[in-house]
Amino acid sequence: MKKGDDKVQYRKFGKLDFEVSALGFGCMRLPIIDGDTAKIDEAEATRMVRHAIVHGVNYVDTAYGYHGGKSESFVGRALQDGYRERVKLATKCPVWLAETHEDFDKLLNEQLERLQVDYVDMYLLHALNAKSWQAAYDLNVLDFVRRALADGRIKHAGFSFHDELPVFKEIVDAFDWDFCQIQLNYMDEEYQAGLEGLRYAASKGLAVVIMEPLRGGRLTNNVPEEVQAIWEQAPIKRTPAEWALRWVLNQPEVTVVLSGMSMMDHVVENLRVAADAGANTLTEQELAIIDQAKEFYLNRTKVKCTGCDYCMPCPAGVAIPRLFSMYNEASIYNLNPENVAKNYGRMIEEKMGADLCVECGQCEAACPQNITIRQHLKDLHAALQRP
Ligand SMILES: NC(=O)c1ccc[n+]([C@@H]2O[C@H](COP(=O)([O-])OP(=O)(O)OC[C@H]3O[C@@H](n4cnc5c(N)ncnc54)[C@H](OP(=O)(O)O)[C@@H]3O)[C@@H](O)[C@H]2O)c1
Repeated sequence: MKKGDDKVQYRKFGKLDFEVSALGFGCMRLPIIDGDTAKIDEAEATRMVRHAIVHGVNYVDTAYGYHGGKSESFVGRALQDGYRERVKLATKCPVWLAETHEDFDKLLNEQLERLQVDYVDMYLLHALNAKSWQAAYDLNVLDFVRRALADGRIKHAGFSFHDELPVFKEIVDAFDWDFCQIQLNYMDEEYQAGLEGLRYAASKGLAVVIMEPLRGGRLTNNVPEEVQAIWEQAPIKRTPAEWALRWVLNQPEVTVVLSGMSMMDHVVENLRVAADAGANTLTEQELAIIDQAKEFYLNRTKVKCTGCDYCMPCPAGVAIPRLFSMYNEASIYNLNPENVAKNYGRMIEEKMGADLCVECGQCEAACPQNITIRQHLKDLHAALQRP
């Protein structure tokens, strides 16, 4: 088969009687103009989405808020000319925008209009966590979901998730969902829902859609030389993106892996990988190589904070676990110092920065990991500010 002519593999969609492509198109990181995420390069993005569909991708994922609210209407246009009928179209309810029960209907109707469709195949409650789930539940969101299923505006109901495993299990068990969407990659086996959540949902018959398989590009951008050297030991040469995608596709419980592809080269490469990366196809040696890369990254962790929040609330307002997470991510993945400084600057403006620490030590008395929080706060403040 010529490069770019490969057809992706398909996987059964949970308990339902259809299959979807192992690679799905995530419309959150489309090519943009002038560095403005709200200005999608529509010509190039349309070419990419249609290329993927022609080569077998039949799952397209968007959401109300992506690209400053422009992604859904872009997807509506990109799927004209017969492409809509070839895919399962997924979008998400921005539950945080609903103030009343009626808002759920208004939002869905607006989304159908933006997408220029009478129905979506997959409708997800977006980015649920303990708080947003409770708020949506209190607004009787499940009654809305039942109504939208019954009147045909949505064909299948699911949710996407960003919180801890017990919350995930609670939501899985709260409704007869057809699917869910979780973050998973070789760095995140035990993060949020993680591998245990993947297996739990699959055991209940849910299809599991994966987001952030490349950790939003962190596993492919600025790859440290040492990690590159680890990949080069492998008998078969692969890019960091291919290793990461293959690790996710190796999990038999995974249904579809979404990738937010931002250029045509990504589409071509990811299609090629999804054409032959079946479940349980990585060898012991290959899995050991991936473990080595993971180990290397983890060794660059600055603070062994588990995010348990026992240190919170800080009387001075310092967002301790969030700051440690930012510090660790910057170190582990070689993040661009300018961007890190900008994000940290925002936290300082919002009065959550390490500069507010008064060294009372209340946090250290509460920390089950015995982390020297005060010293780490000083170090991160020095490290994260604009260079
Ligand atoms: N529901 C939710 O809460 C939620 C949250 C996150 C994501 N999602 C959905 O899930 C989709 C997938 O997540 P994601 O976009 O974070 O996926 P991802 O695959 O982890 O990250 C996408 C980024 O990886 C890089 N990339 C992709 N293919 C590559 C390749 N072959 N070679 C080198 N780099 C490559 C690109 O980075 P560069 O652009 O920097 O080159 C791209 O922007 C999203 O697009 C969105 O639809 C949903």
